[in-house]
Amino acid sequence: MFALAVVAIYSLILLVSIAIAKRFEQTPHVFQASEKFYDLKGKTAIITGGNSGIGYYVAEQLAARGARTILACRDLHKAEAAKRRIIEATSNSNITIKRLNLASLRTVREFCAEVLASETHIDFLINNAGAIHLGDHETEDGLQITWQINYFAPFLLTNLLLDKLKYCNGKIVNVTGQFCANRVYLDDINTYSPIIWREKLSHVLVADMVAYFNAKSALYESSFEFARRLGTTGGSVCVFTVNPSSSNFYRRVYLGPIAILYFWLHVLFPKPEVEARKLVELILSDASITKYGHDDEYLANELWRRSCQLVNLQT
Ligand SMILES: NC(=O)c1ccc[n+]([C@@H]2O[C@H](COP(=O)([O-])OP(=O)(O)OC[C@H]3O[C@@H](n4cnc5c(N)ncnc54)[C@H](OP(=O)(O)O)[C@@H]3O)[C@@H](O)[C@H]2O)c1
Repeated sequence: MFALAVVAIYSLILLVSIAIAKRFEQTPHVFQASEKFYDLKGKTAIITGGNSGIGYYVAEQLAARGARTILACRDLHKAEAAKRRIIEATSNSNITIKRLNLASLRTVREFCAEVLASETHIDFLINNAGAIHLGDHETEDGLQITWQINYFAPFLLTNLLLDKLKYCNGKIVNVTGQFCANRVYLDDINTYSPIIWREKLSHVLVADMVAYFNAKSALYESSFEFARRLGTTGGSVCVFTVNPSSSNFYRRVYLGPIAILYFWLHVLFPKPEVEARKLVELILSDASITKYGHDDEYLANELWRRSCQLVNLQT
C-alpha cells in the first residue's frame, strides 16, 4: 500500500514536471515538413545505433527512399536482425552492417578505415547512438565511458569521415536530446561527477545523468564548431542537431524511480518512429543552419582543441 502511494505521488510529480517541461520546450531549430517524396537512390547514409529505437526508424525511412544504408552497430547479431527487418519492410537490399563500438576508439578508427575504403561518398552521417547509466568507468582509451560514447567517439568518427562528406556536400546530424543543449563547462569535460554535484547529490543515478547531459551538450556545442569550420572548408556540408524527447532508455533501467521516469517519458513523449520522421524530414529539407550553440568562440575552440587531444586526433 505504502509502495503504491509512493509510486502514485512520484508519478504525479513527474507528470507535473513533464507538463512544465513541455510548456518550456525549445522549438526545433529547423523543421520544414515536406510532402515531397525524395528519391535517395545513389545516396549513402550511415546511421550509428541503427539497430534500435530512433536509429532503426531513420535507417528504415532512408532505405525506403532507396538510399544505400549502413548500420553502424556494436552488436552484429542485432544489426543483422535490423537489416533483415529493413529489407523486408522496404524491399531495398542495399543495406550493409558494420561493427562500431563507440566505447572503443580503436573500433571507431577501424570502422572509418573500412568505410573510407568501401565508399566513394557519404551523403548523410547520423550520429544517433547514445547511452546513459554506464557508471563511473574508464574506457580502454582512458576516457570516461559516458563521455566517450555520447561525445568523444562521434567527434572522432565525424572528423575521420569528413572528406567523404565534403565530396558530396553531405549532411551530418548529431542526435542530442531535450535538456542537452546546456552550456559546456570546460572543467566538466570528461568528468563523471562535477564538483557541484558531488558535494550536494552524490547519487549514482544523478551523476550518470549529469555526465550524459554534459556529454550531449558537448556534442551540441561541437556541432556549432563543425558548422563554422565546414563553412570555410567544407563546401556546403550541413550540420544539424536534433533533440528528441522520447527515449527507449527505459528498457535499460529495470528498478527504482528512474525506471518510472523513463516509462512515463516513453508513454508521454513521441515514439521513436515519430522522432525519426522529424529527423528524416529535416535532412531532406533545404534547411540550413547558420547559428548554433552559445556563440562563445573561445569555448568552442577550446572544446575542439581538448577533444582532439583526448581522442588523439591531429587537425
Ligand atoms: N532527452 C534525451 O536526452 C534523449 C531522449 C531520447 C533520445 N535521445 C538520444 O537519441 C538517440 C537514440 O536513442 P533511442 O531512444 O533510440 O535509444 P536506444 O533504442 O537505446 O538506441 C540507442 C542506440 O545506441 C546504441 N549504442 C549504445 N551504446 C553503444 C556503443 N557503445 N557503441 C555503438 N552503439 C551503441 C545502441 O546499441 P544496442 O542496441 O547494442 O544497445 C542502440 O542502437 C540517443 O543518442 C539518445 O541519447 C536523447
